[in-house]
Amino acid sequence: AIDIKTLRPTTGMITIDPGFKNTGSCESAITFLNGEKGMLRYRGYSIEDLAEKADFLEVAYLLIFGELPTKEQLKTFHNDIKAESHVDEEMKKILDGFPKSAHPMGVLSSLTSALIAFNPSSVNVSSEKDMYHAIVRIMAKFPVLVAWTMRKKKGLPLDYGDDNLGYVENLHKMMFKRPNKDYKTNKIAIDALDKLLILHADHEQNCSTSTVRITGSSHAGLFVSLSAGISALWGPLHGGANQAVLEMLEAIDEDDGDTQKYMAKAKDKDDPFRLMGFGHRVYKNFDPRAKILKKSADEVLSDLGLEDPILDVAKGLEKVALEDPYFVDRKLYPNVDFYSGIIYRALGIPTEMFTVMFAMGRLPGWIAHWREMRLRNEPIGRPRQVYIGKTSRPFVPLKKRK
Ligand code: ACO
Repeated sequence: AIDIKTLRPTTGMITIDPGFKNTGSCESAITFLNGEKGMLRYRGYSIEDLAEKADFLEVAYLLIFGELPTKEQLKTFHNDIKAESHVDEEMKKILDGFPKSAHPMGVLSSLTSALIAFNPSSVNVSSEKDMYHAIVRIMAKFPVLVAWTMRKKKGLPLDYGDDNLGYVENLHKMMFKRPNKDYKTNKIAIDALDKLLILHADHEQNCSTSTVRITGSSHAGLFVSLSAGISALWGPLHGGANQAVLEMLEAIDEDDGDTQKYMAKAKDKDDPFRLMGFGHRVYKNFDPRAKILKKSADEVLSDLGLEDPILDVAKGLEKVALEDPYFVDRKLYPNVDFYSGIIYRALGIPTEMFTVMFAMGRLPGWIAHWREMRLRNEPIGRPRQVYIGKTSRPFVPLKKRK
């Protein structure tokens, strides 16, 4: 019941927890993380093992279906994906409609949503078979959209993939193949990309995944739920941080490497600036993904024979921040976005595409959560609120309002 004067509930209880800092939205068997110990596991397997020993498609299968695939299962999954890799030609017209300056995340989210117009049967997922079909369709078409988004940005003609290649190699080819030139595979780049995608593949109930679950809970289809997730990922406090980190590191570099200036800004409570790539809602110890990526950034640059002053800026900033009482007291450590951009940059991926790459990696996680939510028949997500606005007021006609 509601108190008619205050409009506050008088019976029952509504908990208020802005940002859901202490509120679980669901039970899930997909990803475990322990923020105090800096521990991350997909379906019980440590992120360190998976990043080292598995490939992205195996990890996608693991996240979505719960078990590491046998050789046969992986082959079938991959073949089913390959059979769905065609993206309707009409989709190119939609892409053509965007200006070259459009942010790739806006383009990707629109294209993902638009896919439903050409695959309407993917909305109705009353059986596990239908669900599987929707899943392989999006696993197949999403890399094409990612590649098209980048090619649009770079002004390159669009290209289709090659079914003879592995999933990530095919993505790499679709992104990088130059017109009128044969595609040359690059093992170092593909391995690095594979690892990055694995590290981004799931992270339990973060902002974008919760968005996918809550959108899907109205029984909207998979593709539009993913499109909502892409939009949620875009913000600089979430996936958009990877772009913001690199822009920040470049600014520091151009500012003669003056890390102290940026540290002071980050600590100044009157300045909205935050040290991008630092802090995490759950990790109050090192983000294990950042640990792997820091090492990987060194290896990839050295394997590709590149030197990047930005990596030195990042290491310098990390050192200063980890010794600063402001960051120590608040347990602010580098997160996954801190070093990922340096690797994307070394692979030749434009800065504005970084969050799109995050979305590519997060795809299986989003799918796994959407599937889990539907299979568990979860109710529609519909949080309550405590109303704090005006109570009862007499209506004033327009001509009498002042
Ligand atoms: N720089 C400076 N101060 C920070 C930072 C930062 N990067 N992160 C947190 N703080 C401070 C806050 O100002 C606050 O200080 P106060 O206690 O004096 O008020 C305290 O640390 C706690 O921060 P909250 O914002 O309450 O923590 P929350 O859990 O809500 O936010 C978040 C986590 C959004 C990741 C935050 O740390 C942040 O904005 N980081 C920078 C953006 C970023 O890197 N995002 C990527 C996260 S990883 C991912 O989504 C993939």
